[in-house]
Amino acid sequence: MSIVVRAVEEADLPALRELQARPELELVDSHYRAHAAGELIFAVAVDGDEMLGTALLDLDAGQWTPELRNMYVYPSARRRGAGRALSRWIEQYAGSKGFKEVYLAVDPGNEKAIPLYVSLEYHPIGEHILVDEHEVLQVPKNVRPSTHYAVYKKSLTAH
Ligand SMILES: CC(C)(COP(=O)(O)OP(=O)(O)OC[C@H]1O[C@@H](n2cnc3c(N)ncnc32)[C@H](O)[C@@H]1OP(=O)(O)O)[C@@H](O)C(=O)NCCC(=O)NCCS
Repeated sequence: MSIVVRAVEEADLPALRELQARPELELVDSHYRAHAAGELIFAVAVDGDEMLGTALLDLDAGQWTPELRNMYVYPSARRRGAGRALSRWIEQYAGSKGFKEVYLAVDPGNEKAIPLYVSLEYHPIGEHILVDEHEVLQVPKNVRPSTHYAVYKKSLTAH
């Protein structure tokens, strides 16, 4: 099988709810509502019937819009290319809407995501955002999450 990325559909919600890392936050439902309202694009990576992970493109992220946010590949599906496929799909979507760049914010201690983003040509812009709610667990449970995430940018017009 191969990895396909597409927008989340209503029929996906029961399965995505079951897979949530932090069900108490009800992020699947809030992201789907925002997706339906046009505030963000909520994407899922699948391989046949298996859901691999999700990410979103926030179209209302203030100074650093659009923002690739809340990327989460389920632990059992990691290192199979879903993170890379989700990032690329999100970038293509942003480019198709006329955006010239994509931003993201990452915990400086995130040893999995930073190599992914660097390999996709995201660069730190030297700015940080204060994070009080860690919606996505980016570092192992025995590592204290940073209170400041580094902002990275990718140009969509560099090539
Ligand atoms: C970061 C994350 C999204 C990567 O997803 P993934 O599907 O496993 O990543 P991919 O298989 O697409 O890997 C792409 C590249 O990322 C890097 N990478 C992924 N996992 C890595 C790891 N454990 N250690 C080092 N580099 C890693 C590698 O460069 C990899 O390329 P390679 O496999 O050719 O060496 C996933 O680990 C995750 O969900 N982590 C928890 C949540 C999180 O940190 N989200 C990011 C928020 S900014």
